[in-house]
Amino acid sequence: MPDFKRTLVTSALPYANGHIHLGHIAGAYLPADIYVRYLRIKGAPVLYIGGSDEHGVPITLTALKEGVQPRDVVDRYHSANADAFARLGISYDIYGRTSSELHVDTTQSFFRALDAAGYIHQEDMELWYSEQLERFLPDRYVKGTCPKCGYEDANGDECENCGAQYAANELVSPRSVIPGDASSPVLRSSRHWFLDLPKFTDRLKAWLDSHPEWRANVKGIANGWVGDLRSRCITRDTDWGVPIPIDGPEAEGKRIYVWFDAPIGYVTNTRQWGMDTDRGEDAWQAWWKDESSRLLHFIGKDNVPFHAVIFPAMLMGQDGYVLADNVVGNEYLNIFNRQTGKSEKGSKSRGNMISVRWALEQFAPDVIRYYLCAIAPESKDSDFDWDDFMHRYNGELCDVVGNFVHRSLTMTVKNFDGKVPQPGAFDAEDQAMLDAIPRQVDEIAEALDGFRFRQALERFIDLGRKANVYFNTKEPWVTRKTDMERTATTLYVCTQVVKALCHTMAPFLPDGAAKLAGILGVALPDGGPDGGADGWNAAKETLAAGAALQPPKVLFPKLDPDYIAELAEAHQRGEGF
Ligand code: MF3
Ligand code: ZN
Repeated sequence: MPDFKRTLVTSALPYANGHIHLGHIAGAYLPADIYVRYLRIKGAPVLYIGGSDEHGVPITLTALKEGVQPRDVVDRYHSANADAFARLGISYDIYGRTSSELHVDTTQSFFRALDAAGYIHQEDMELWYSEQLERFLPDRYVKGTCPKCGYEDANGDECENCGAQYAANELVSPRSVIPGDASSPVLRSSRHWFLDLPKFTDRLKAWLDSHPEWRANVKGIANGWVGDLRSRCITRDTDWGVPIPIDGPEAEGKRIYVWFDAPIGYVTNTRQWGMDTDRGEDAWQAWWKDESSRLLHFIGKDNVPFHAVIFPAMLMGQDGYVLADNVVGNEYLNIFNRQTGKSEKGSKSRGNMISVRWALEQFAPDVIRYYLCAIAPESKDSDFDWDDFMHRYNGELCDVVGNFVHRSLTMTVKNFDGKVPQPGAFDAEDQAMLDAIPRQVDEIAEALDGFRFRQALERFIDLGRKANVYFNTKEPWVTRKTDMERTATTLYVCTQVVKALCHTMAPFLPDGAAKLAGILGVALPDGGPDGGADGWNAAKETLAAGAALQPPKVLFPKLDPDYIAELAEAHQRGEGF
């Protein structure tokens, strides 16, 4: 792997059309945030870009149904989601918006550059039109019967039941979903712009082949697409979206399609970040156009084609952009239903989703982060299950790590005057424990470097397990009565493990790490875009004998089973959102 000077991390821009939920977090956001925090504490320059996806039919439909403007809808959910992310500790450098003026500029320059390079052409299409409302009915404005399987509630462009995708005019018995529109949709011709994806086939193939290290699920989907590329329509008959940068009547009443402009939002938001932080209008270029920059996309699996095929093609069609070094695609987080004993997809209509804002009313951020990382759907779907949630958090984070940290520090502070004790000679067990620290820190890093976040967290807990075994073998609560030097040595060793736990928990559990760093009096560097000191490998450095310790506090309070049972019931009643 070439040496990268800086890493640009993106998480999918969620539609500003609803509250973000735990399924989103487990897939595209928490893993990215853990990775970004890991690079920051290592001191590697990293920039983390996010924001709202504010165009598209879901948003205009919501506005129509509520009788408000699309602007009202996106304003509402943009601020709600920005707030939920911030409170959960998803540490974006910027949370931007695709409805911004700047985004019009970025998107239009992408369109112009691709057009000038000969990758965009026009075609006439037959599309559904409402004669009553005198408007086209793009995408999900029409429902009907699936031409492949006969499902009667199929969308205008794809069938939820059988997964088929089709052209609008293939839909059988179309009907408009706009409230009050009683007319039957008719087909009408409309001129649109298309991106010539087939022209990128060879380059996309070569690029995908150069990345054997990507997750199999992502490679599989991307290779499937690249094997059968067609031109894609990148405009729509709507008035909500980025205007097409073409003068003339054929562009009237049309906008650029949301899936063309949304990923460009990553670039826009990088530009905005450069201006907001007074780094200048061109600061974004180093991140997007310098060969020594590494680009990483964190997404859910439905977004793979856009991030591993279409957006890369849009970048290839212009000069100088770097391509993603990895597309970290995740499977889905499902919900385990205790009553039926079955796992079910999270869905609005079922009312089984758990919003971030609701979860944050019940739990500290670290509690949510712990469980969602522990069950991250990395290579296959996983289940959110209330019992499992309580058992894993209580049984692993509290009982293993929290308990070890607490009893070591309490004994140390009490018996050694609030200071790290001066150790005597190390025996074989002391030495083995001390030697395990750098090994375990490196193993956690190795998992993080490979985007295996569950494994990284397991290895972190494992360090706590080893430490508990050591503590129980050494019995400092017994030796305290007979052999103070032995006790000093044991607790000295324990303090070193506590310190390593403090540094290594920082990416996963930022609040716990900050509290513990305060108790230990250690600094946890937090580099950012310019990089900084290496606080990750500092986990391996010793905390000197004599260093002052603050009285310990409980880092991870246990969850009460009765409280969890209550919440599980509230969730079952559909109150989790
Ligand atoms: N809004 C899309 C979704 O929620 C994701 C957009 S990702 C971006 O599925 F790259 F296009 F921004
Ligand atoms: Zn179907």
